[in-house]
Amino acid sequence: MSELESYAARVRGLVDDRLLELAADDDPRCAKPHAAVRHTLEAGGKRLRPILFFASCEVCGGRPEPFLDAACAVELVHTASLVLDDLPCMDDAGLRRGRPTLHVLYDEATAVLAAVAELMAAFELIARCPGIRRDSLARDMAAELARAVGLDGMIAGQQLDLDSVGRRLSMDEMEFVHARKTGALFTATARMGALAAGASGPEIQALEAYAKNLGLAFQIVDDILDATATAEELGKDVGKDADKPTFVHLFGLETSRTVAGELTATAKGSLGVFRRGAAVLGQLADFVLARKS
Ligand code: IPE
Ligand code: IPE
Ligand code: MG
Ligand code: MG
Ligand code: MG
Repeated sequence: MSELESYAARVRGLVDDRLLELAADDDPRCAKPHAAVRHTLEAGGKRLRPILFFASCEVCGGRPEPFLDAACAVELVHTASLVLDDLPCMDDAGLRRGRPTLHVLYDEATAVLAAVAELMAAFELIARCPGIRRDSLARDMAAELARAVGLDGMIAGQQLDLDSVGRRLSMDEMEFVHARKTGALFTATARMGALAAGASGPEIQALEAYAKNLGLAFQIVDDILDATATAEELGKDVGKDADKPTFVHLFGLETSRTVAGELTATAKGSLGVFRRGAAVLGQLADFVLARKS
């Protein structure tokens, strides 16, 4: 088992247990929204963003365990974004994390409410995170996360993604969309992990550069998988981005693979400022490039 595999298994265990605790239902009158949120969380997923949070904190000399709730907040925001992305008015997908999407299992209203509940729960988790002892740290983490999902972040990226159906974007325009719809949350996650550790300016900058390139590579590989893998392999619908301006459509599979490889190499190059403890982040970049699901 590689260092990343055992590290990832440990973080996934912590995150899965905590997330399921949050969606436990104690009042039968609220059973439906709880069941809907649980449906999206129980199916797992790679939990890449919490792993990135933990590894970013640790590489800066911090101990991430007390900040588990902040790592879970990032995963909640990500899960909400998937629920919304799958809606009929967006990518209209029927399968997610190997299960029917929420709007298929229930209806669109239940799916929208569950996504909003997950977004709200994320900020409550940060506000109450036991490891965050300074109000200013809670404020900085909340601002970081809100900015990543907000008007100039994921929202802008998703809007442009949807509005670009049938259009041919330039490389710069494409990078702009990917950096926002996917990269912004990666960058915020790494920065939040660094903030938890009380990292220095150069450490934060290095992690930001790493995560920016990692996020872009991640979305390019996602687009490659959308065009080449099966729904069984991915646990989600494939071909949903066939009309979208993806790297694959613009440059073909081979060039897209080359660009993703260059971006992960650049990401790993940013880790040079860390004298030790960067192995997990290096292996995470290799995983993002090689992943099959
Ligand atoms: C899918 O993200 C959405 C994109 C940003 C491309 P992941 O591939 O990380 O999804 P899960 O969490 O493993 O299901
Ligand atoms: C979605 O990108 C990025 C989000 C903000 C959720 P995709 O539409 O490519 O994600 P998948 O392929 O459905 O997971
Ligand atoms: Mg989409
Ligand atoms: Mg989609
Ligand atoms: Mg995709």
